[in-house]
Amino acid sequence: MKKLVTGILSLAVVAGLGFGAAVAEEAPAGEEHAAGGTPHYPIHKPEQQEWTFAGPFGHYDKGQLQRGLKVYTEVCSACHSMNLVAFRTLEDLGYSEAQVKAFAANYEVQDGPNADGEMFSRKAVPSDHFPSPFPNKEAAAAANNGAAPPDFSLIAKARGIERGFPQFVFDIFWPYQEGGPDYIHALLTGYQEPPEGTQVAEGTHYNPFFASAAALAMAPPLSDDQVTYDDGAPQTVDQYAKDVSAFLMWAAEPHLEDRKRTGFMVMVFLFIFTGLIYLTKKSVYANKEH
Ligand code: HEC
Repeated sequence: MKKLVTGILSLAVVAGLGFGAAVAEEAPAGEEHAAGGTPHYPIHKPEQQEWTFAGPFGHYDKGQLQRGLKVYTEVCSACHSMNLVAFRTLEDLGYSEAQVKAFAANYEVQDGPNADGEMFSRKAVPSDHFPSPFPNKEAAAAANNGAAPPDFSLIAKARGIERGFPQFVFDIFWPYQEGGPDYIHALLTGYQEPPEGTQVAEGTHYNPFFASAAALAMAPPLSDDQVTYDDGAPQTVDQYAKDVSAFLMWAAEPHLEDRKRTGFMVMVFLFIFTGLIYLTKKSVYANKEH
């Protein structure tokens, strides 16, 4: 009897929890916290985009990565560093050693000390990393309304989206790992006029997709036709945002393709192994009485 009661009680608790989660999920995020609760950002969740690197057979589209590099170089690198990424890794994008060398030479890096004990700057070589355009974090913040532009090396992995019920259940079977690029794309394309009654601090720009507030210190960095593509891809903010997000995913996870390929081989192995174990079990116990 006691067992039965405990059983019913725990069932009720589980059901209650599930219900609670469902209710929490239904409450729209953000804008509707006029009642005074803690604000919940982002106000809007990013829209899911199509990425070639999604799913178990995902792979990078080299053309897209090259375009993304161009957007990063011509626009974002004026403020954002990428100091864990070495120039030589750009060979992954299909560039030759000589091309990478020439690309790196466009950057100046600090080196030293020399024989006189002084630091000096020199042209970057392929083993150097993408440098910061600012001498230090304080200078970066001072030049950007008090908010230092974050380093880009891992940004695509550092920003994601919380997935509520029921999506996270399906994510077990078809993992969703594109939260970072979806977020960056949404942020870059999501600037709008603040709704009436919303005050935005001076020097910040309203963006309902920003993860930590209603407005951020980065002005909309992209506009149509800003970067020239030579492969005929559309020169729109949407396309730039997609390409640079894909590029940042590559920067954060350059070995994604290897990881997915290995994962698939492991699944195949486990499948065959299960079959063999089953046959072994059958043959070992074939003549035993149960
Ligand atoms: C003029 C300088 C400037 C340029 C150019 C710029 N950014 Fe930013 N960016 C900033 C600053 C400043 C912040 C910090 C904003 C804040 O925290 O309020 C930021 C933050 C970000 C963030 C992080 C948002 C978060 O969730 O914390 C992302 C992602 C980003 N920028 C992407 C880009 C991309 C992609 C480009 C190029 C297309 C770009 N930025 C170009 C200044 C810049």
